[in-house]
Amino acid sequence: MTESNVQGKKPFLYVVVCAAGVAGDVGKLITHAQERNWDVGVIATPQGLGFLDAEAIESQTGYPIRYAWRTPGETRPLPPADVIAVAPATFNTINKWAAGISDTLALGILCEAYGMGIPTVALPYVNAAQAAHPAYQRSLEQLREMGVLVGSYEPHRPKAGGGADRFRWAEAIDILEPRLPQRT
Ligand SMILES: Cc1cc2nc3c(=O)[nH]c(=O)nc-3n(C[C@H](O)[C@H](O)[C@H](O)COP(=O)(O)O)c2cc1C
Repeated sequence: MTESNVQGKKPFLYVVVCAAGVAGDVGKLITHAQERNWDVGVIATPQGLGFLDAEAIESQTGYPIRYAWRTPGETRPLPPADVIAVAPATFNTINKWAAGISDTLALGILCEAYGMGIPTVALPYVNAAQAAHPAYQRSLEQLREMGVLVGSYEPHRPKAGGGADRFRWAEAIDILEPRLPQRT
């Protein structure tokens, strides 16, 4: 049992979901987190939203999926994050995040997470042609320098159907668990 559980408050995980082929399986990550007694809120990119079964995810987490900024005065739909997992992380969002671009709610949360010291892991799901782009390698390097932990998925062959069977959703939890803030 973690310190957080001892104090009666579960760790709160934000899962940022981007528009990559495996996004529809994000329920697997939510299940892994809930099995460790974490609470979960999902933030989708606007494109990522189209890959998800929103009703199933909202019923699994108990929270609305967020994908756009709230209006001023609207209450915050999610508690603050203790830890963040970006899974799957696209080529697009990785490059924009590293460059400090904040034109989606998901990127806004990620760009601020660095300054707020929130432990963050990214599980990229890209193909080898995307991974070969010099900007992508620079972006990963930049994110690692910022303290972002990066998952071990090796890019799949382009136009070959992807590698969903070897995408390790639970890796996000394994990487974040030792970095949970200790509550006193
Ligand atoms: C069916 C489909 C599958 C895709 N799979 C991937 C993928 O696995 N990885 C990736 O980086 N982009 C993938 N893309 C491209 C992204 O969806 C696109 O770059 C999008 O702008 C990403 O937006 P986001 O980063 O805001 O989620 C896919 C697009 C489609 C239509």
